[in-house]
Amino acid sequence: MLIGKRKPCRRLAAGIFAGAMGLLIAASPAMAQGTDGHRMDRPWMDSSLPPEQRAELVLKQMTLDEKIALLHGNGMAHAGNWQMPLTSQSNGGAGMVQGVERLGIPRLYLSDAAYGVRSSGENGRYSTALPSNLGAASSWDPQSACEYGALIGRELRAQGYNMTLGGGVNLTREPRNGRTFEYLGEDPLLAGTLVGNLMKCEQAQHVVGDIKHYAVNDQETGRNIVNVVVSKRAMQETDLLAFHIGIEIGNPAAVMCSYNRVNGDYACENSYTLTDVLKKEWSFKGFVLSDWGGTHSTEKASAAGLDQEQPMADYFGPKLKEAVEAGKVPMSEIDDHARRVLYGEFLSGVVDDPVQKGVVDAEGGLAIAQHIEEKSIVLLKNDEAILPLNAARIHSIALIGGHADVGMISGGGSAQVDPPGGNAIMPPGKGATHWQDHIWFPTSPLKALQAKLPNAKVEFNCGEDKAAAAALAKNSDVAIVFAYQWTSEGMDLPSLSLPDNQDALIEQVAAANPHTIVVLETGTAVTMPWLDKVGGVVEVWYAGSSGHKALANVLTGEVNPTAKLAMTFPRSEADLPRPVIEQLSAEDKGQGSGAVNGRTHTESKYAVQYDEGVKVGYKWYEAEHKQPLFPFGFGLSYTTYAYSGLKTDSAQKTVSFAVRNTGKRSGTEIAQIYATIPDAAGEPFKRLVGWQRVELAPGESKTVTVTVDPQILSVFNEQKNGWELLPGTYKVFAGPSSSETPLNGSLQIQ
Ligand code: BGC
Repeated sequence: MLIGKRKPCRRLAAGIFAGAMGLLIAASPAMAQGTDGHRMDRPWMDSSLPPEQRAELVLKQMTLDEKIALLHGNGMAHAGNWQMPLTSQSNGGAGMVQGVERLGIPRLYLSDAAYGVRSSGENGRYSTALPSNLGAASSWDPQSACEYGALIGRELRAQGYNMTLGGGVNLTREPRNGRTFEYLGEDPLLAGTLVGNLMKCEQAQHVVGDIKHYAVNDQETGRNIVNVVVSKRAMQETDLLAFHIGIEIGNPAAVMCSYNRVNGDYACENSYTLTDVLKKEWSFKGFVLSDWGGTHSTEKASAAGLDQEQPMADYFGPKLKEAVEAGKVPMSEIDDHARRVLYGEFLSGVVDDPVQKGVVDAEGGLAIAQHIEEKSIVLLKNDEAILPLNAARIHSIALIGGHADVGMISGGGSAQVDPPGGNAIMPPGKGATHWQDHIWFPTSPLKALQAKLPNAKVEFNCGEDKAAAAALAKNSDVAIVFAYQWTSEGMDLPSLSLPDNQDALIEQVAAANPHTIVVLETGTAVTMPWLDKVGGVVEVWYAGSSGHKALANVLTGEVNPTAKLAMTFPRSEADLPRPVIEQLSAEDKGQGSGAVNGRTHTESKYAVQYDEGVKVGYKWYEAEHKQPLFPFGFGLSYTTYAYSGLKTDSAQKTVSFAVRNTGKRSGTEIAQIYATIPDAAGEPFKRLVGWQRVELAPGESKTVTVTVDPQILSVFNEQKNGWELLPGTYKVFAGPSSSETPLNGSLQIQ
């Protein structure tokens, strides 16, 4: 009440102050104020004007040097080889871009923030780790994606940043890609919708939003030299479509171009992807920044549509100025680049709402991370209802392997979020962290499970001695093996097998106790040679700061799992479009994963042919008649659902059907709609065209109606260089996963 009473006084005081200022300002014409308090000599500060207009107004006041300052970075903190005079002023993040102080344009402070804000350890700060992006994609939940982005946006700002480098949305063409966990799976509609919602809500916190790595940067092996060979149609219908949907929904101010080449040209000097598609076809008005060290030229990159070099000024600093002065780069190009950066700053609100450091809401973050992880855990197998654990009947539980007594693993590279208190499994004698250390969060599944099951005896065996682990399993009612797979930027996995002989450990434990459950902490799919021998499998991904609590809630049934895979789990690498990732030649080695601009770099012949074309993920398995281990869209629940009564309306392009909860527990079913397009397209396999999360009480039935966006039914015609919606019959299918679609019907398109 007291506070409530005081508020008007404060407002009054501010009002009097503003009024007095108004009088003063009116007396001096140079300082006159507009209605929202901006100075009249700075009309671009009028927040009621559209960002385009504001950018144009301020651009007119800028010198060439000021414009060029917006077009490059100033080094990278904590990176020895990337230091520049102003690097120490970059707030400890990935980069900093000068503003124009005299005109009120702030600096940009950039940080990586894939599943949380990076480098908090090095900077003495705290960040929440959310579940990995791939994990969170398994929620198929735009609302969770929004909460995810909003949390990161708040924590960025609290730490003094006003630009994110998150928003990874490369499609899972290559599941061994070490960055798969940073992306949102294999389907363009799902991935694009989720990244769009994530970025919309992140940018709404007044940070410059970004989506990356544009484009077709789908493997890490040789990422700086690889030439990705892929048809325009395949690109447009898959990888580029994910970006397009994300950009339409999220309207991010920035797009990061990737390291690789696309059909010959580096992605950061590729006029097809940057100008023809992104800026012209999609009318993207924001700016393109290069991945770190991914700029390779001045004139070519500038003409192709790169707007900002990061993190240095090797090509877009003095060399760009020289090129302008020599008439090699037209001033109009510089204006376009600068205008785009300015537009992004106005659009995202970083000009009107300058960043102010604060204290991260750690408690709030932990609750959100837990809630999202509860929606991200995929129940892959549950024979004879081994889960949820029945507290009344289970008296002893063996927890085996995966350091489940102390923590859970996380994903590495520039996505890494630092755990509070440091690495829970710090190898002896190890000091500072390296970007490819295996980092374990201090999230103990043992403690979380014991707290939920106080009357059960929960014992741990680290799994090093398989016989001892099996003996403990044998003497327990249930055994839970924690299996992990660490992945990171800068590497691809040699295979999808669990590392460190964990398959053998699982086999031995399962042989000792058929009531064995495997918990997977993985960054991508894994093969499961032991699948038939275990009772349950739970995929928790990289589970984030509250992963242990979310897991305990799912294992004990307090939470009914709802998540479904955003990527296919293959039976074996032999079923992938490329059973083996081609390795680099001796000459190319060392140029593969760092960002360097050496000679080998430009002369390398290393290439990857994406001959599978549009058949990415589940489309490949269907077209090639290969049975996956677990299909895209698959996930079990503690209840069951039945689908019935599919109807379509061709004029409205709607598909509707009923989903009933046929079990005894409340649950949320992710009902999926797929379609095949007319034969003339030559794509005889299903594509996801929509989905809905349906919350159902036991026995309850609801009608799901989804309107299918014509874009998602269209094909890209290379001859016409455009999209077309072919006339004809579109078969539609509905069901619980890509390989189980009990309902079908059709839409007729004229
Ligand atoms: C990564 C980017 C990251 C950048 C800055 C690069 O190595 O590919 O995703 O944003 O570094 O840390």
